[in-house]
Amino acid sequence: MKKAIISGAGSYVPSTIMTNQDLEQLMDTSHEWIATRTGIHERRVIDSTENTSDLALKASLAALEDAGLQPMDIDLIIVATETPDHMFPPVATKLQSLLGCRTVGAFDVHSTCVGFISALQIAEQYIKIGKANHILVVGADALSKIVDYTDRSTAILFADGAGAFVVSGADQAESEGIIDSTIHSDGQFYEDLYVEGGSSRERDNSDYTIPKIKMNGNKIFKLAVNAMSNNVKELLVRNDVQYEEIDWLIPHQANQRIIDAVARNVEFPQQKVISNIKYFGNNSAATIPLAFTMARKEGKVKKGDRIVLTAFGGGLIWGSLLFQY
Ligand code: ACO
Repeated sequence: MKKAIISGAGSYVPSTIMTNQDLEQLMDTSHEWIATRTGIHERRVIDSTENTSDLALKASLAALEDAGLQPMDIDLIIVATETPDHMFPPVATKLQSLLGCRTVGAFDVHSTCVGFISALQIAEQYIKIGKANHILVVGADALSKIVDYTDRSTAILFADGAGAFVVSGADQAESEGIIDSTIHSDGQFYEDLYVEGGSSRERDNSDYTIPKIKMNGNKIFKLAVNAMSNNVKELLVRNDVQYEEIDWLIPHQANQRIIDAVARNVEFPQQKVISNIKYFGNNSAATIPLAFTMARKEGKVKKGDRIVLTAFGGGLIWGSLLFQY
């Protein structure tokens, strides 16, 4: 049985910056409120002519280059997204064609901000059973397309971006690779964070509207802190790994106060927690690979480091993944 390693990583964010001051012009808010309550100072937003597949393509090309691979080397493509260009077909098939890959398998994963972790979990299984040797795993979202810019409690948080890993097969004896992961859900909170409009349910009710994110922010905040804290503990305990043996915690970038609370709960020192929310906001499935590649560029994350990824999102879904880079 093969082991799944991260052989390449890349990311991409659109060049347009939307600052808190820009938002002050659109709604009743202030830079001070947003920065204090969320840690976000600015976020990237996509051009109106671009779509999620454009973000995914640029991140994928960067990841392939990093892995030293060509598109023809890829055996499977998995894209995690909540904002596909179309309700169907998947972004992954468009990406397959844009990249010029062979007619390999390609599908999307729809599990909110946990999507990138879910996609890595699936990729790991394909590698383990020998069904693929190089898998492109992408987290890409253009949440600005479904943000309601009249709703100050959500519009300030969400953003656009993409990140990608190449997951490859390696010998079991390798020290690097995915070690373990978890996934949980609790659908009783289904309507505390969801997209209203643009769906089959609204269509049935003759109530079809443009999709908009709806969120019970305060409730989600508390659930997120508990879910991620307990989940990181669960993952480390069951692998008999001590916190001191982990080099970096890379949490989903939803709110700096959530990141700080999780770090406190799991007793991770601040300097071992990766955060870039100040500049990029919450771009859902893209936050984790984006934070990873930025931290690597800054010289923080290095080959051989032990890393815990953790995320939560609408559903609710939450999950974590432990790997050695
Ligand atoms: N500017 C100014 N005031 C605001 C703003 C704003 N942008 N937004 C809300 N307020 C006001 C509210 O109206 C409220 O006023 P009131 O007391 O007069 O009624 C006050 O601020 C406090 O509102 P709360 O909602 O209690 O503020 P809170 O401290 O909880 O912060 C926030 C709100 C930032 C949304 C926070 O709850 C949060 O980050 N929640 C988690 C959200 C999250 O992570 N979601 C993503 C999940 S990932 C995925 O799947 C996409």
